[in-house]
Amino acid sequence: MENFTAYNPTTLHFGKGVLNQLGITINRFGKKVLLVYGKNSVKSNGLYDTIKHQLDSIGAEVYEYSGIKSNPVVQDVDAAAAIGRENSVDVILAVGGGSVIDSAKIISIAIPVEAPAWDFFERKMIPRTAVPLVAVLTLAATGTEMNQFAVLSNHETENKNGYGSPLLYPRHSFLDPQLTVTVPEDYTAFGIADLVAHCLEAYFGKGEDATLSDKLVFSIIREAIEYGPPLMNDLTNYELRAKIMYAATLALNGLTMYGRTSGDWGVHSIGHILSLLYDVPHGASLTVVYPAWLRLQRENLAHRIKFLGENVFGTGDVDLTIDRLEGFFRILGCPVRLSETKAGNVDPDEIFRVMVHNKAATFVHKLNVDDYREIIRMML
Ligand code: NZQ
Ligand code: ZN
Repeated sequence: MENFTAYNPTTLHFGKGVLNQLGITINRFGKKVLLVYGKNSVKSNGLYDTIKHQLDSIGAEVYEYSGIKSNPVVQDVDAAAAIGRENSVDVILAVGGGSVIDSAKIISIAIPVEAPAWDFFERKMIPRTAVPLVAVLTLAATGTEMNQFAVLSNHETENKNGYGSPLLYPRHSFLDPQLTVTVPEDYTAFGIADLVAHCLEAYFGKGEDATLSDKLVFSIIREAIEYGPPLMNDLTNYELRAKIMYAATLALNGLTMYGRTSGDWGVHSIGHILSLLYDVPHGASLTVVYPAWLRLQRENLAHRIKFLGENVFGTGDVDLTIDRLEGFFRILGCPVRLSETKAGNVDPDEIFRVMVHNKAATFVHKLNVDDYREIIRMML
């Protein structure tokens, strides 16, 4: 087993009605609140009123930044950070999915500095402090509610990159599965695929002797396979929403990584290119890339794919394991080829160029430019 450090300071409030504690929790950090949310969902499903009620109950002074896009962009982060800075906010309240919470994480480290947030991503600046962040999660997928990562796009520099810092853990995250019943069918499926992908990135990382972490990976994927498809047929079912929400949190909160030195993350970095270029939703980008990536690695990683198959997909056959994973994505209703996404006409040379520009790489199983071409061919 590889050495590891376990650290996770996020307090998770999970279940029906947990939002009743939101006001009291925010009040511990202060009364000046920067409320960050996305486009329409928070208002159309009534959550905005619940949040405002909680904030009113503590006499909060609220500054708002809304309109965070799916596949969020750094320009919104800079604009929101400016509002937070001008008003010396005490705490940030992020209400939404991964895009909103990721944006709020970078806002939290950008407020204390007088510089563009992208400087963190370019390693020109290291965060020293963060405004406390409280998150209300409305979409089960990314695990951002209990981890130290954020992912932003910068269309000017043609990058979609992740950033990690221990300062980015939310102080508190509120997860009421009832808040996710309005997530549309497609994003529900993408969320399930994303959590499975997070398990696989860990599993194909460095540290194959992390036997207990492997078993956790298998358990989380099995949970997704058992409860994902029923959820797709019963989108308002609280219990099924709860099972998927909890699984998504565990899939990327460090648990699957103990005993490894890193995940692979090659599939994510290629998926980010598809999101950057064609605004492919994150989960959908992964269901396109994963089958192609596994087929590329089928000899290299035969023993690991076989072991995954034996423990999750009822087969010790490498190709059948990949087919069954792809089949699972299809059952959810996810695209498994670029032509099945809403990307429209894609340009393979453009994808290749931006992959090279982003060094769409892996921490562990390195890809070269020939691999890029081959993966693109298999994704089309
Ligand atoms: O903007 P609104 O109107 O709120 O609509 C959102 C958005 O259109 C909607 N939605 C969210 N909750 C809803 C809802 N609609 C109805 N009812 C609700 N309760 O869903 C759409 C997608 O939301 P988004 O936040 O973009 O989705 P997701 O949670 O999948 O986040 C994706 C982002 O997270 C990054 C991705 O790269 C992508 O940018 N990731 C972050 C990670 C992390 N921080 O650890 C890891 C992941 O691998 C991932 O890279
Ligand atoms: Zn992901």
